[in-house]
Amino acid sequence: MKTLVTYMSQTGNTKKVAEAIYGELTGDKEIKALSEVKNLEGYDLAFIGFPVMQFDIPPKVRSFLTENTKGKNIAIFMTHAVPEGFEAIQSWTGSARQTAADANLLGTFECQGELAQPVIDMLLKAEDPQMKAFGEMGASTKGQPDESRLGKAREFARNIQAKKK
Ligand SMILES: Cc1cc2nc3c(=O)[nH]c(=O)nc-3n(C[C@H](O)[C@H](O)[C@H](O)COP(=O)(O)O)c2cc1C
Repeated sequence: MKTLVTYMSQTGNTKKVAEAIYGELTGDKEIKALSEVKNLEGYDLAFIGFPVMQFDIPPKVRSFLTENTKGKNIAIFMTHAVPEGFEAIQSWTGSARQTAADANLLGTFECQGELAQPVIDMLLKAEDPQMKAFGEMGASTKGQPDESRLGKAREFARNIQAKKK
């Protein structure tokens, strides 16, 4: 069985989660940036990860899921700056599920990732009070994903792989 872990990551958070998942997998496996993956041919299972951006899936990830996941065994993971349990997360997960509706989706995982300082600075200067509030939350995201979140990502990896065996 050959498994791929692929991810999009601008500031390294989703990459950390991807590496934690990859480290836990047994058997033949590869880890690659999404930009290096043409399609999912030759893989029995693919973990696909990305950061939530502008309250949704990044457009490049959306087109990858739409074009390449039909009939494929996949698992989706994402990072976001809001704390776990934040209501909007359900709609982000729902959006990913809907985009990959023709795949055999084995599960999803999400956790908090640090909001990069330049993004915090930009948000704090925003006129929109909602954006400003988002920026003020930035400091509380420092150091994420931490070891406990990465541990949950490893558990996710084990559970998904067990479903496929
Ligand atoms: C342009 C931009 C938009 C973002 N939009 C959201 C958002 O809508 N909701 C959220 O929770 N986090 C948002 N974030 C935070 C990222 O999702 C979070 O920091 C993530 O862990 C970044 O992952 P990465 O380091 O792999 O790029 C945004 C970050 C950037 C840079």
